[in-house]
Amino acid sequence: MITNFTKSNELRKKASRLIPGGAHTYSKGDDQFPELSPHSIISGKGSRIIDVDGNEFVDWGMGLTSVLLGHAYEPIIDVIKKELDNGVNFIRPSFIEAELAEIMCNQIPSAQMVKFAKNGSNATTSAVKLARAFTGKEIVLRCFDQPFFSIDDWFIGNTEISSGVTQGSKDKTKNFKYNDIKSLEDTISLYKDNGIACVIMEPASTEEPIDGYLQAVRDICTKEDIVLIFDEVVSGFRFHPKGAQYLYGVTPDLSTFGKTMANGYSISALVGKKEIMELGGIEHDKERVFLLSTTYGGETHHLRAAQKTIEILNNNDYEVTKHVWSVGKQIKDAYNYTVKELGLEKHTSMQGIDCRPYFYFKDNYMRTLFAQEMIKHGVLIQGIVPSYSHNKSEINQTMDAFEKSLKVLAYAIESKKIKELLIGQAVKPVFRKYN
Ligand SMILES: Cc1ncc(COP(=O)(O)O)c(C=O)c1O
Repeated sequence: MITNFTKSNELRKKASRLIPGGAHTYSKGDDQFPELSPHSIISGKGSRIIDVDGNEFVDWGMGLTSVLLGHAYEPIIDVIKKELDNGVNFIRPSFIEAELAEIMCNQIPSAQMVKFAKNGSNATTSAVKLARAFTGKEIVLRCFDQPFFSIDDWFIGNTEISSGVTQGSKDKTKNFKYNDIKSLEDTISLYKDNGIACVIMEPASTEEPIDGYLQAVRDICTKEDIVLIFDEVVSGFRFHPKGAQYLYGVTPDLSTFGKTMANGYSISALVGKKEIMELGGIEHDKERVFLLSTTYGGETHHLRAAQKTIEILNNNDYEVTKHVWSVGKQIKDAYNYTVKELGLEKHTSMQGIDCRPYFYFKDNYMRTLFAQEMIKHGVLIQGIVPSYSHNKSEINQTMDAFEKSLKVLAYAIESKKIKELLIGQAVKPVFRKYN
């Protein structure tokens, strides 16, 4: 049973003294985990991580969904090491930039041109900017049920934490509901006269698209001259090596990739139709668009990491993808089975798409108590992010921990002792106005 977090607790204090939020990603913050949890991690291998107190955990977060093959995955490390010896950043582009761009164009249905960057936010924000420049319009329609698109004002201004964003930015982003074509049609009718530049959405995130939905979105955008952007920062490479757009058979005008593209290394991509993308280039006579331009966009070792990751994903009849979907399904089935056995269906379930399942809990006290108990049994969990390195031993350990933790939850609910058994505060949503 894991209960010693002595060094973690010291580092937790130091981090919150020195770093706003105590972490560099909100979803890694202390308000997202139980008090009895590791704060700082030392290393990871495969799907297991070790914290500063020497505790080992099965990791179901996998670098906020970015690590698809496994931590410190050797074939990726090998190409990175090799490239480090060649130097990583030069006065002109490395030859690998065009090499990887060609791979992306062969891989992703919507890719005719490609621009690399370092994170997903820059890619999605650039897609929005390009759409505005291409259409000469300003309104952005974003899918409201999907949790995150960018740290930039066009998106953050449309959330609960909009402090610091100008009213002008806030007014330019409007919402529609996923899997509800009427919601999109109504939103378009409402704002058409103001000029709609783009629709931005994940092709799928918490639920699969219903039959014909994505095609209907595609058709409306074509008819209304609206640029359709698929944010595939999470779904790309995870749902299918050619993107969720390939899986669901609908091609957007622009799309963005990141997370799983290089197994956790920092690279993202904006891809799309040549006639839109080339506005950011130097071979046209229209007004120029300052598209992505970053000092580190072409770092060679990360380009190589992406190249190798894509090569591995394409191998053996998409063996990695099949594994990831199957692990997610096994975990989801096991959780829901135990929940049913213990009569907890009204309080919790595991839902979502098999390659990216998530937990439903009736409230955050239950969620936090469950996470606290899972940690005691060596399983660190927020949602379920299956990887190629989650194998039998991790699945079995997780199922065993489900049973023990859900029994505690069942007892706590039955005896009305949830708050008593929970050490510290319940987790809170990232998007809230006040702490
Ligand atoms: C769907 C989606 N788009 C974009 C982003 C932003 O990516 P990054 O954190 O690399 O900027 C995220 C991050 O969680 C995301 O989930």
